[in-house]
Parts: sequence; structure tokens; C-alpha cells
Amino acid sequence: MSVTIKSSREIELMRQAGKILAKVHEMLGNELKPGMSTLEVDRLGEDMIRSFGCEPSFKNYHGYPASICVSVNDEVVHGIPSAERRLKEGDIVSLDAGVKYKGYHSDAARTHGIGEISEDARLLIERTRQSFFEGIRYAKAGNHLHQISNAVQDYADRFGYGVVRDLCGHGIGSNLHEDPEIPNFRQAGRGIRLRPGMTLAIEPMINIGTADVVWLDDDWTVVTDDMSLSAHYENTILITESGPEILTLTESEIAGSGPQMTGPRFFVTEADAGNAKRQTGN
Ligand code: MF3
Ligand code: CO
Repeated sequence: MSVTIKSSREIELMRQAGKILAKVHEMLGNELKPGMSTLEVDRLGEDMIRSFGCEPSFKNYHGYPASICVSVNDEVVHGIPSAERRLKEGDIVSLDAGVKYKGYHSDAARTHGIGEISEDARLLIERTRQSFFEGIRYAKAGNHLHQISNAVQDYADRFGYGVVRDLCGHGIGSNLHEDPEIPNFRQAGRGIRLRPGMTLAIEPMINIGTADVVWLDDDWTVVTDDMSLSAHYENTILITESGPEILTLTESEIAGSGPQMTGPRFFVTEADAGNAKRQTGN
């Protein structure tokens, strides 16, 4: 499969899928509290996704049994929601979700702290998020894909973190996973040339300790080999001539993302913001 360039109609649908997912993440993040089971998180998230007229992209994807990947502490990604697993004060929890809206997918992940968390955990979450923004400084037409990968790793390396190598980001559109594969770690070659209309899910997964991960016997849950904490931050972006347009941020996230961005600014018009409001009924 080759890398698809989206038409303006497709881009509009992906923007809508993105705005809805941003809202789902915001709403779901606000529901998290100690004592809640990870299955409750999944149920709430699935209800929210359906309330916006979307399908959960992950449900039954290659047999994945839930709508939201809920990964706690040393779980990196693809944690399977369970009635037995309850969140407790001090945990960190990564929520990864995808929505399909009128045939087009968006994909995003956030890591949240439950109540008071350690300073080490707080920094890991913040720096994992920032590694995404460092990477997408290079996400513009004419640049090469691996400039993004290299920038993510260069930033994470400053803190001695382990950048997960066994899972990658990906192109996205009418399929959840499309070409290209997007490593979050340093690459030898340049990778493909970025072109306007490409839509990409960039998703650094970063561990306090070793980069090595193992798969649990459930065939899904990925955990750190040394049981150190792991965080995940993902957005779906659109490549434009002048820089990345991040499709899966809320308006307040867009407003708050300025100071962290030392490179190109985001391109979200007043009209987009208005559409998002109508979409989410807020
Ligand atoms: N963001 C993850 C990914 O791109 C989510 C996929 S989970 C699955 O791989 F359950 F859908 F596989
Ligand atoms: Co993804």
C-alpha cells in the first residue's frame, strides 16, 4: 500500500473525526477517579464515541476486544479493559482511542495521573507529550519523515528515557493503519518525503527505564521489560505546506500548545473552532 494524499473532502471529514476524538478524550479524562475499573473507562468512552455518531475504531480490530486501550503504569499500550483492574491514587493511565466518522478515522492517546502522582511520573507524562511537539516541528511538506522520528528520540534522550522501538505510528484515513510506518526513534535513512494532504498518527511511547517491552499472554498488553512507568501521547495530524495541523486537539489544548511550540504554529481557523463547537454540541 502506498501513502495516500487526502482530498479536501476527506480532509474535512478527518477534521471532524479529529475534533470529536479530542472531545471524547477531554470528557473521558475528566471522569477518571480512584476506584474506577478500567472496564468502566472503556464503557464510558464507547458510549461517548457513539453519542457523537461515531464507531469505535479499535473494537474488534484484529480481534481487540474493547473500544479504548487502557494501559496502567508499566503497561505501555493496548491494555485490555477489565472489571477487576481498578485505578488507584498515584497510578498513571494511558488512554488510547480511535473514532470512525463517515468512513474516516482519527487516533489519539493521552496519559493521565490518578490523584496525586510522583514527580517522576508527572515529568514522564509532560516530556512524552513534549516529545510529540518536538517531532512535529518537522512535520511539513518537503521535509522527510524520519526528521520527526529523530527529533522525538533526541528530546527523550536528554532525560535518559527509553523510547519504545517495537511499536510505531502510522498513516491514517479510511483505514486506521495506513502507510507509512512512523518510528518514534532515530533512523538511518531519511524516510519518505512529506507532502500536503498526508494524514499521520504520531505516537511516542516513552519509558522511565529500558526501551525494551514484552507482550503479555493476553496477546495484546505491552509492558515495559523492567516494569518501569510508561507514557503515551498521540495525535492525528495533517501535513500542510506551512506545517502540521493537529486534528485531535480541543480548542483549549490548541490555545495551551503555543508556549511548547518553538517551531511552526498550528493552523486552526475560527471557522474550524466553530465547527468543532457544533460537532460536539458545546
Ligand atoms: N493507537 C494504537 C495503534 O495505532 C491503537 C490500536 S489498538 C487496536 O496501534 F486495538 F486497535 F489494535
Ligand atoms: Co495509533
